[in-house]
Amino acid sequence: MKILVTGGAGFIGSNLVHLLVSKGHQVLNIDKLTYAGNPRSLADLEGNPNHQLLQADICDPEAMRKAFADFRPDWVMHLAAESHVDRSIDGPGEFIQTNILGTYVLLQTALEYWRGLGDQRSEAGDQRPEVGGQRSEDITSFFRFLHVSTDEVYGSLGEQGLFTEKTPYDPHSPYSASKAASDHLARAWRDTYGLPMIVTNCSNNYGPFQFPEKLIPVVILKALRGERIPVYGKGENIRDWLYVEDHAEALLTAISKGKPGETYNIGGNNEMRNIDLVRLLCRLLDDALVKRPELRTKHLTSDLRPPTSESLITFVTDRPGHDLRYAIDATKIKNELGWEPKQDHESGFRKTVEWYLENEAWWQNILDGSYQLERIGLSEK
Ligand SMILES: NC(=O)c1ccc[n+]([C@@H]2O[C@H](COP(=O)([O-])OP(=O)(O)OC[C@H]3O[C@@H](n4cnc5c(N)ncnc54)[C@H](O)[C@@H]3O)[C@@H](O)[C@H]2O)c1
Repeated sequence: MKILVTGGAGFIGSNLVHLLVSKGHQVLNIDKLTYAGNPRSLADLEGNPNHQLLQADICDPEAMRKAFADFRPDWVMHLAAESHVDRSIDGPGEFIQTNILGTYVLLQTALEYWRGLGDQRSEAGDQRPEVGGQRSEDITSFFRFLHVSTDEVYGSLGEQGLFTEKTPYDPHSPYSASKAASDHLARAWRDTYGLPMIVTNCSNNYGPFQFPEKLIPVVILKALRGERIPVYGKGENIRDWLYVEDHAEALLTAISKGKPGETYNIGGNNEMRNIDLVRLLCRLLDDALVKRPELRTKHLTSDLRPPTSESLITFVTDRPGHDLRYAIDATKIKNELGWEPKQDHESGFRKTVEWYLENEAWWQNILDGSYQLERIGLSEK
């Protein structure tokens, strides 16, 4: 398939692009390369004819129109977004721009392209690919637009309950509000214009290539350096954690087997309090460093060697408007499409700790540049 991916130089996008190319798909990767987009995450695909990176802004209608016309995708997987809640507190403007306006531009471009698809394909004499095991008779019917979203649009849960696909939206941060708006647009383009739309809402991801300002890389890298590990509030906020490669598989499953017009919740069946997650990461890191003590010595930023990584945990002022608990009911995608996460409560985190230890060049390059593990997002303006 020819798949147009937006945001494919980011955390989830780069993992998705790796999966798609490994399956033999042809990918046009459109990415603005903001602070979060990193071509180094795709370095191993350099020269691969099945991957092309186009630096462009999804808010630019001309650039999007040209990209669709030149590449002529079978499917669109839309991940480009401003994605960090703390950054949305300090500067919501970019979130409104990319997440809402950018999604609108992409939807309009996709709609125009989809409407003209029948003629273009007939002229080119393209083979119609199979979708869901069937070769479609209708030339436009295999086109799919997958809009990738978050569970944060559903708001915050109390101690009980799970988010289902029917949970009403109740976003609280500028990030989740902008994603909620984009989800509504995506569904409206399906209901009003018939664009074959699938929406996914996923829980917190972790794994390789995650930008080092998010919780899990922060914990691993702070602990490795022997620096204080900041935990918001008392660490009692609960999140469901999904290994990013499992998410990438779920997205491919949703676009290839999902029904247009449907929403699928994606989760890891892995709810944890932040403090328990941080303690687990500390333990996994200490275990890994027993075999490689030279790494601990190399990265320590002071002469003081902490007795354990856990001793570095420090509670800091909570994030304004911090949602207490998110938890996903992923029964629908399991029952209808047969997807389930492969990593369990510990295996994915162990793989992630190992990945950060083995890929110092990747994160060091970021730390040397724009971001130095500083705290952002305390602004309440
Ligand atoms: N990270 C998570 O835990 C999580 C969970 C559920 C859903 N999501 C959603 O998945 C998607 C990807 O998340 P991520 O964590 O990989 O984000 P990310 O911030 O790591 O990557 C976003 C990518 O989008 C690109 N981008 C930003 N603005 C753009 C623009 N105007 N035009 C083109 N490209 C632009 C960036 O350069 C970057 O490569 C987002 O839509 C996010 O809302 C993320």
